[in-house]
Amino acid sequence: MMDHRMGVYLDNAATSFPKPEAVHEAVVAAMRDIGASPGRGGYGQALAASRLLMTVRESLAALINAPDPARLIFTHNATAALNQAVFGVLSPGDHVVTSAMEHNSLLRPLRLLEKSGVTISMIPADSQGLLDPQAIRQAIRSNTRMIAISHVSNVTGGIQPVAAIADLAKAAGCLLLLDAAQSVGVIPLDMQETGVDLLAAPGHKGLMGPQGTGFLALAPGVMIKPLLAGGTGSSSDQDLQPDDFPEGFEAGTHNLPGIAGLGAAVAFVKETGVARIGRHEHDLAQYLREKLAQLPGLHLYGPVDPLQRTGVLSLTIEGMDPSELAFFLDKSYGIAVRSGLHCAPHAHRTIGTYPAGTLRVSPGWFSTMQEMDYLYEALTAIIQKGHS
Ligand SMILES: Cc1ncc(COP(=O)(O)O)c(C=O)c1O
Repeated sequence: MMDHRMGVYLDNAATSFPKPEAVHEAVVAAMRDIGASPGRGGYGQALAASRLLMTVRESLAALINAPDPARLIFTHNATAALNQAVFGVLSPGDHVVTSAMEHNSLLRPLRLLEKSGVTISMIPADSQGLLDPQAIRQAIRSNTRMIAISHVSNVTGGIQPVAAIADLAKAAGCLLLLDAAQSVGVIPLDMQETGVDLLAAPGHKGLMGPQGTGFLALAPGVMIKPLLAGGTGSSSDQDLQPDDFPEGFEAGTHNLPGIAGLGAAVAFVKETGVARIGRHEHDLAQYLREKLAQLPGLHLYGPVDPLQRTGVLSLTIEGMDPSELAFFLDKSYGIAVRSGLHCAPHAHRTIGTYPAGTLRVSPGWFSTMQEMDYLYEALTAIIQKGHS
């Protein structure tokens, strides 16, 4: 067995750890060498900050083939991007089609909007957590303004049929909002080819950037209202919030060190290859799954077909509370995994693990086969002891 004091981090679906060394360096360099705010002055440091922002914006846009880098808005996480997307687009009288697999970061803003006259249809998924595009098609109404779904479930790792759903949105003349929190950096994304109108993503998960980073990318022509109003460093003579991209949608001082780190992270991800990173995580999870499938009383969730899954894996052990299991893995083995509902209660209703939830294992780019073996041995020992 490995030495548990080393610590094994397997919660990359929450936030990736560790980050590439270049990310640490970029964060420190932005703080030490730039310091200033973009668009807030004509001196050298402020101009360097503006250039940095533009470079990272362009790099991110290229990564997901977003048509216009200026329409890529920096946010502090995926939650802020999703809030900007739904509050920015939807008005009373609009209808939204969403699903039972969504994270609270999407569901809760939609529920808030419901109070002011937006209606919602929540489409159920099958017992594997997968959506049927036909069910989405049937839910579309004449006032459907948006289909809002996640690309990959943070509970099961199941990959939704986004291309088919994008075709439906296009045919119906409504917008597709994609929550790419669990796919960016793991599955190659092409906003234009797929036909995604709004793409919300964190910078700190699959992209391996610092916490406190994220973005919302918009296709040309998608009109939104800003969620925040305040200083933009532009049109300062006007009382009203400017609506030009990107400044009008990034009020307040940017997380420049975070964005600098995100830039280095995206460079690392591009150099390594998104498909290669995704395959590595998938292969580790698949290896673990095959071993775990032999253990008595252990249940695995998510799509049966390995091609419909990423590296996120959910499990339960009969007679054991997932939170107790996670606590024990941490305390006795130094393994960091997440338990509970993972902010997606309806996903657990769907797969039959509500209310206790599951134990979620999510390897990252820096995770190893040896760590999978170690977790397997730990779970085997726990099952054999019958308890903690
Ligand atoms: C599917 C999904 N959407 C949204 C989020 C929210 O991401 P953030 O923590 O960056 O706000 C998460 C994070 O767990 C997620 O898994």
